[in-house]
Amino acid sequence: MADMQSSPAAVPTIIRREDYRPPDWLVPAIDLDFDLDAAATQVKATLGVSRNGAHDRPLRLDGDDLTPLRVSVDGQILEEGQWHLDAGALVIPLTGDTHQIETLVELTPAENSKLMGLYASGGLLCTQCEAEGFRRITFFPDRPDILSRYSVHMTADKQLYPVLLANGDPVGQGDLPGGRHWARWTDPFPKPCYLFALVAGDLACNADRFVTMSGREVALGIWVKEADLPRTAHAMQALKNSMAWDERVYGREYDLDVFNIVAVADFNFGAMENKGLNIFNSRYILADPDTATDVDYDGVEGVVAHEYFHNWSGNRVTCRDWFQLSLKEGFTVFRDQNFSADMGSHAVKRIEDVRILRGAQFQEDQGPLAHPVRPESYMEISNFYTATIYNKGAELIRMMALMLGPERFRAGTDLYFERHDGQAATCEDFVIAMEEGGGIDLRQFRLWYEQAGTPRVRALLAYDAAAGRATLTLEQSVPPTPGQADKEPMAIPLRTALFDPASGQSGGDHLLLLTEERQNFIFEGLSAAPILSINRGFSAPVIVETDRSQADLAFLSAHDDDPFARYEAMQQLMVNVLVGKIAGQPVDEDAVLAAIRNTAADSALDPAFVAEAIRLPSEAYLGDQMAIVDPDAIHAARDGLQSRIGSELETLWRDIHARTKANGFSLSAAAKGARKLRNTALLYLAASGAEDGASVAFDQFDQADNMTERQAALATLANGTSVERDAALDIFYQRYRSDALTLDKWFQTQAFAFHADTVDLVQELAHHQDFSLGNPNRVRSLYGAFTGNQWAFHHPSGKGYRLVADCVIALDKLNPQTAARLVPPLGRWKRFDAQRAGMMRAELQRILAEPGLSKDVTEQVSKSLE
Ligand code: TRP
Ligand code: ZN
Repeated sequence: MADMQSSPAAVPTIIRREDYRPPDWLVPAIDLDFDLDAAATQVKATLGVSRNGAHDRPLRLDGDDLTPLRVSVDGQILEEGQWHLDAGALVIPLTGDTHQIETLVELTPAENSKLMGLYASGGLLCTQCEAEGFRRITFFPDRPDILSRYSVHMTADKQLYPVLLANGDPVGQGDLPGGRHWARWTDPFPKPCYLFALVAGDLACNADRFVTMSGREVALGIWVKEADLPRTAHAMQALKNSMAWDERVYGREYDLDVFNIVAVADFNFGAMENKGLNIFNSRYILADPDTATDVDYDGVEGVVAHEYFHNWSGNRVTCRDWFQLSLKEGFTVFRDQNFSADMGSHAVKRIEDVRILRGAQFQEDQGPLAHPVRPESYMEISNFYTATIYNKGAELIRMMALMLGPERFRAGTDLYFERHDGQAATCEDFVIAMEEGGGIDLRQFRLWYEQAGTPRVRALLAYDAAAGRATLTLEQSVPPTPGQADKEPMAIPLRTALFDPASGQSGGDHLLLLTEERQNFIFEGLSAAPILSINRGFSAPVIVETDRSQADLAFLSAHDDDPFARYEAMQQLMVNVLVGKIAGQPVDEDAVLAAIRNTAADSALDPAFVAEAIRLPSEAYLGDQMAIVDPDAIHAARDGLQSRIGSELETLWRDIHARTKANGFSLSAAAKGARKLRNTALLYLAASGAEDGASVAFDQFDQADNMTERQAALATLANGTSVERDAALDIFYQRYRSDALTLDKWFQTQAFAFHADTVDLVQELAHHQDFSLGNPNRVRSLYGAFTGNQWAFHHPSGKGYRLVADCVIALDKLNPQTAARLVPPLGRWKRFDAQRAGMMRAELQRILAEPGLSKDVTEQVSKSLE
C-alpha cells in the first residue's frame, strides 16, 4: 500500500498506429435517455452489442470520469464484482455473442470546464464528443470504427430548455408533469460516437429550406440566442451555397430531412460536424457589419462550408482510427478552400491559404512537434488537430487533384465515396481510390503521408545561348524531424514557366514532377536567357530556393501571369532586402519601393490582390528565413522599411485612402477589396510619420460604418502612442463591452500591437475584469494573439514566456485542450539565441514540474523539451 502511494504519477500511454486491431465487440444500436439538468444529468444507455469474430475477451466500454450507478446485462442488474473499472473503462465479461447492456451514470454539466462531453455554456446544455468526449457522457467503446444507429430521448425543464435537439430527425415530443417536457430524435445513418450531439436551451431559429438536386426538401435551422438572430443571415447563405456547391462539384447530396446548426459561446475549436446537428463556436456563425470584419465574414462562410462538407468527407465516410484524421480533415479543408475560392477570388484565397500554411504548418514542421500527415503515435489525440493534419493534409489532396486534372480527380472521389460509403476508412483507401478511379500511380506520392518536414527544392536555371536551350536543375532534400532522421526523395509536382525578358511572355505552364534527389529538365527553342517562375500557384508545399536576382524578381512581380507567383516574387524581393539588411549587407530598398509603386498603380489588378502583394512579409515569416531568429533586429528592419515605404510614397497612400472610401457598406468582392487596400494604405500612411497619421486613423475609426475599417484603424493606432490611440481603445471598449465576440477584438488588437510595452499591457489585460480563462475565445484573443506577436512575445526579459507559462499552468486545471495549444510557441526554443532558448526551456520545465498536469500539456511540453 505504502509503495503504491509513493509510486510516481503514471506515464501517459503512447498509442501506436501499428497496434490497430479491429474491435472485439460491435454496437449496432444504442438508445440514450437523458434526464437533463445543469447540476445533475442522468444518462441511461442501452447498447445492443455483438461479438466481433471468435474470441473470449470481455466487453470493454471506455469511460472518463464516470461512475456506474447501475449496470445490467439482458435486463439483469449486475452485482459489484460482475464488472470492474480499468483506467476509467467499464469491463464486463460476457458469455453469449449478442447482449443488451444498460448503464446509468450521473453528470454535472455545469462543472464541466473542459468543454468535452456534456457541458453548460451561457444557459445552454451542449455536447462535444470529437475526439474522445463521448466517454465522458456514457460508457461506450469510444473509437471511430464502431458505427451505431442512435435513438435519443431527452427530458428537461421546459422553461429553461424549451428547445431539445439531437442528431437525425425529430420523431416525437410532448409535455410532462412538473414543468418538464420530452423529445425523441433518431438518426437513420449509423455513425461513430464522436458524431453524437445534443443541445438543450432557450434558442431562436433562423429557419430556411433547401431543395436538393433530386428534389427533396431539407429544413434548415440556425439556432442562436434570440438577440443574435439578425446576425445569422450570412451563415445561412453560406450553408445554402455549400449545399449547392457540393452537389455541383462533387455530386454529393444532403441525406436527412433536417439540418441544424447551433452557435455556442464556449467552444474549444471552430466548429463540429455532428451528423445533422453541427455545433459552432459562435464566432463562426454570427456576423453583421457593425461587429464582423471581412475576414470574419469569410471565416463564417469557410467554416459553415467545412462542417457541411464533412457530411460526406467525414460522416458518410469516416475514419478507421484517429491516425487517419487527415482523411477527413485534409480533404475537407481542401473542399472548403475551393468552395471559398469559387465564392470569391481564386488568387487572393490561394495567397491567404499559403500564408496560413507557412505561418502555422511550416513552423510546426521545423519544430519538436513535427509529425507526418498520418502520424505513427500519440499520447493525446486532441494535440493532433494540427496545421499538419488540416492544412498540409489539404495540400496533399491539392497535389493529387493537380496531377490528375479535374475530370480524373472527380472520378477518383466518386469511386472513394461509392466504395467507402458507410465505412470507416484509411488515408490509404483514399489514395487507392485516386489511383484506380483516376488512373495514376501514387506509390512514391504516399511518402507525403509518412514523412514529416517541409521539403526544400533548390532550382538552378542555366542557359546555353548557342543551343537556345535552358536546363533547369532541381535538387530536393527533406530535413530530419523527430523520429525520422533519414528521408526518401518525394514526388513533388512543380508548375513552372519560363519568361522571355524582352516580350514579358512565357512559353506556357509546365507541370514538372520531381521524383529524384536531383533531376534536370530541358527547355528548347529559347532565343534569350529566360526568367524562372516556379511552384506557380504554390503547387507543392515546399520551400523553393533559387538564385534569381532582384531584377528577375522585380520582372516577375510586374509580368508573371500566375497571380500567386507574382505575389511570391514581390514577397521574395522584400524578404531578400530585409534579411540582407539584418545581416548587414548592402541592399537595394528602391527596388521594393518601385515594385510597390508599380503594383499599386496597376489599375488592371484586383485591389484585394494589390493589398496582399504590397504588404511586407510578417515578422514571423522573416524569422523563418534566418538560422537563428533575431526578433529585435527583424522588427527594427521591417519597421524601418515600412516607414520608408510610408514616407516616400506618402501621396500614393493618401490618394488610395481617399479614393477607396465607400458611400455605403457592401459585401461585394469590389467593396471588400477596396477596404483591404484602404486599410493597407492607412497602415503605410501612419508608418510614414506624417503629423496627421494618428488623426487620419482616428477619423477612419470614428466614421467607419463597418468593423473591417474600424478595427484596422484601431490596430494602426494601437501600434503607436497617441491620445487618439487611448481614446479609440476606450470608445471601442465602451461600445462593445457587452458583446463578447467584439470585445475579443479589443483584447486581440492590443496583444497584436507593435508596441514596446505590449508584454506589460498583456499582463495587465490578463487581470482585466472582462478577462476569463473560462472562455477559450477570450483566452485565444489575448494569449493566442500575444504568442503570434513575435517581437512582443520574445521580449528579451523573458517576461512574455513567463506570462504564457503561467497561463498554461492555470488553464490546465480548467481546460487542458486549450492550455496545450499555448505550448508550441514556447517549444520553438531551438530557433532562438541561447539566452532566449534557456528562458523558454526553463518555463517548459516549470510547467512540467506542476503536479497533476494533464496528458494534453504533458505531451506537448515533454516533446518540446527533447
Ligand atoms: N472536427 C472538427 C472540425 O474540424 C474539429 C473539432 C471541433 C475538434 N471540436 C473539437 C477537435 C474538439 C478536437 C476536439 O471541424
Ligand atoms: Zn473538420
